Amino acid sequence: MTQYDVVVIGSGPAGYIAAVRCAQLGLKTACVEKWRNPDGELALGGTCLNVGCIPSKALLSSSEEYEKTSHHLSNHGITVKGVSMDIPKMLKRKDSIVSKMSKGIEFLFRKNKITWLKGHGKFAGRNDVGILVAVDGDEPETVVSKNVIVATGSNARHLPGLKVDNKIVCDNEGALAFDSVPQKLGVIGAGVIGLELGSVWRRLGAEVTILEALPTFLGACDDAVSKEAFKLFTGQGLHIHLGVKIGDIKTSAKGAKIAYTDSDGKAQTLDCDRLIVSIGRVPNTESLQLDQVGLAVDGRGFIPVDDFCRTAQPGIYAVGDVVRGPMLAHKGEDEGVMVAELIAGQHPHINYDCIPWVIYTSPEIAWVGRTEQQLVAEGRKYKSGQFPFAANGRALGMDSPDGFVKVLADEETEQILGVHIIGMAASDMIAEAAVAMEFKASAEDIGRICHPHPSLSEAMREASLAIYKRALNM
Ligand code: FAD
Ligand code: NAI
Repeated sequence: MTQYDVVVIGSGPAGYIAAVRCAQLGLKTACVEKWRNPDGELALGGTCLNVGCIPSKALLSSSEEYEKTSHHLSNHGITVKGVSMDIPKMLKRKDSIVSKMSKGIEFLFRKNKITWLKGHGKFAGRNDVGILVAVDGDEPETVVSKNVIVATGSNARHLPGLKVDNKIVCDNEGALAFDSVPQKLGVIGAGVIGLELGSVWRRLGAEVTILEALPTFLGACDDAVSKEAFKLFTGQGLHIHLGVKIGDIKTSAKGAKIAYTDSDGKAQTLDCDRLIVSIGRVPNTESLQLDQVGLAVDGRGFIPVDDFCRTAQPGIYAVGDVVRGPMLAHKGEDEGVMVAELIAGQHPHINYDCIPWVIYTSPEIAWVGRTEQQLVAEGRKYKSGQFPFAANGRALGMDSPDGFVKVLADEETEQILGVHIIGMAASDMIAEAAVAMEFKASAEDIGRICHPHPSLSEAMREASLAIYKRALNM
């Protein structure tokens, strides 16, 4: 039986990064992965790479270019005629990015001498050497390892009784692969996937209606951001209905008919050619045989872990979407690195208060730290500064005047507690805020740091200065 120092189950961002870091630290490492792409080929990279972050961002970029070329280049004085979209080509581009990156992980595995155990991994007890992991693949085998890192990720949550065929009724997998633009697209759930993928198909010409159960829009965002986002997204043409209760859904080969009750209690129906169900994700622990090593999932299906991703069993760790915390690729990656370093005897930690969030709509939304409503609920005294992109020369030059940066700081110490951005390139700008918060910077620190001119990042400095009522361009 082959022996390892570490076996990682799952090669998504949490798993493959954990494997790479373990190997860098000199540990003999294997990674079990069973993912097969639609063509039947085994592939590394997990949800994020195959049907998540990477393909969705590729389609967001393609559709944004299309919308810009069709409708917004005229603002620059550019006339473009006969713009059309080749959907198969757009999908091929997306697929080739996915394939390139997946092959990139195979290269990293070879470079770092990580063994890819191809198949489904599950626990098979312990022996004197360590933990047994059975791999059901074309060549079934059982290996033994001193440590196991579970990184099995998550799957889309489905509505009870509604079959997802990924043709008419789709989760993220189908919604990333429509072979044509639906005329009418229904989306259940106005969360991150609903807004990102709803935006993709709206930009390409679909009439998109999003039905959301909660009465509030983007409740995890700062209230000022969610209000601005609702105004901008509905202005772009997304029909967003909040506070609905989904009733009966009938499907046929031509589409879906969704009965729902609106926020006034009135019965409504939505007819659509295709329906995306994006109502959250559930941790994937199916067939792991956790009981073989004395583990069990919690009430919501997650594997219980402490702040260091240690399970209740020595030598067994769990990272990424399969454990508590935000279901974000970079959170999983950081947990993977932390666990690898723990196994190697180092003393890493993660500051869970400093994990940035991004929603890749247009404009983008990004934040790190506390929202204003959280600070109010916590009874914490704070100051707030806000600066609009409409007063930023670079944003105007780029024809992107929408949105703002908002900085929240402790009233007494002025330490930054949260930064909230809605605007172009918010995904990149938020990194400055994360660095500042990790270094416990005050708003004054940001206000005093020289920022390049003209740049979007000046809005971060100005919002920090606005806390002291001394923004220079407002
Ligand atoms: P996963 O990526 O889910 O990988 C788990 C892997 O484990 C899979 O490959 C699976 O096949 C494998 N596996 C499971 N069980 C077994 C087993 N028993 N044996 C062998 N292999 C097994 N996050 C962001 O931060 N930014 C984004 O822009 C973003 N966009 C997203 C867009 C979409 C459409 C979706 C669906 C998600 C998006 N996410 C994004 C979330 C992100 O994809 C997840 O947080 C991330 O993939 C979690 O990583 P993970 O390694 O924990 O699990
Ligand atoms: P989500 O949790 O972001 O949003 C789900 C939405 O569906 C919520 O607003 C919820 O209230 C609503 N909902 C739940 N049940 C409903 C029902 N029965 N009827 C109507 N509405 C209902 O989940 P989503 O969009 O599926 O994404 C899953 C996760 O994937 C995200 O939470 C995030 O962690 C990750 N992700 C991250 C991205 C990013 O970082 N840019 C992009 C896409 C996904």
